[in-house]
Amino acid sequence: MKRILTGVKPTGIPHIGNYLGAIKPAITMSHTDRTESFLFIADYHALTTVRDPKIMKEDVHNVAATWLALGLDPAKTVFYRQSAIPEIFELTWILTCFCSKGEMNRAHAYKALTQANIDGGKDDPDQNIGMGIYTYPILMAADILLFNSDIVPVGADQVQHIEIARDLAQRFNHYYGDVLKIPEASVQKDGAAVVGLDGRKMSKSYGNSIELWLPEKKLKKTINKITTNSQAPEESKIFEGTIVDLYNYFATEQEITDLRSWYAKGIGWGEAKAELFKVVNRELEGPREKYHELMTNTSKIDEILAEGAKRASITAKQVLATVRQACGI
Ligand code: TRP
Repeated sequence: MKRILTGVKPTGIPHIGNYLGAIKPAITMSHTDRTESFLFIADYHALTTVRDPKIMKEDVHNVAATWLALGLDPAKTVFYRQSAIPEIFELTWILTCFCSKGEMNRAHAYKALTQANIDGGKDDPDQNIGMGIYTYPILMAADILLFNSDIVPVGADQVQHIEIARDLAQRFNHYYGDVLKIPEASVQKDGAAVVGLDGRKMSKSYGNSIELWLPEKKLKKTINKITTNSQAPEESKIFEGTIVDLYNYFATEQEITDLRSWYAKGIGWGEAKAELFKVVNRELEGPREKYHELMTNTSKIDEILAEGAKRASITAKQVLATVRQACGI
């Protein structure tokens, strides 16, 4: 039985790119047999940037409700808040003692921030960079190693963090024997391929994304903003571009075949967008309702997460006990 574990930071409402690239594949994977999945909300990682307690609370509920609404089954997936497992933070310190400062200096996220300071002409490259950002990879290593994880599905930007987790586990094991399990990253390629309204990769920072829980009217309006060319409605069109890319994710084989021939015959962009809206909305309307239901009853969400934390803490306590014993503490 392979254990799959991943964390999500509570930072705002996810978009369709997050859904297609990360959430949907993870949920599908969690329904397969012979794997056991752990999914947690990395609230203490978010504390490196989120400083408004109201936003913190809201976003934790947001992500939790999103995953639950999209089909995460808390009976199958151990679903919890990172902050509910204090053993993570004890392991973080232990791992910190096995991490060289140079290794953190080389972490991409930290390096990008120091580079921005240098480029911005700041006297000190470390200006305004918190220790939370600096040691972020060690906390992430603890998240992973505390649960004997085999596989960690992540986006390409997180691969270095998994490498660091592996290094730290190997270093620890070098001193104390085979204590920590060495995890493997599973890089999600699909996520990078989801295109946004303007044809570039869908990203919040590009302002080209389609938020997941838009009300129907807004969803329609947003889909209508997809950039198209100036071909006339009756002109035959090549079956490609943003509309087609997104349609392929949501439509059935038959619908794709039909739209393809409609493109060949000539379809107006407005019509093509209306077809896209239909299939996107069909998939999201049920979950959308469920999402809102959960958001009006957040104590239900808290209950589910607390139940998950109970299950997670069994492994957490076992692994931490082994680690402490190995160190002679
Ligand atoms: N750093 C990850 C991100 O920003 C979130 C995360 C925290 C995570 N801890 C983790 C992912 C452990 C995988 C495993 O996306």
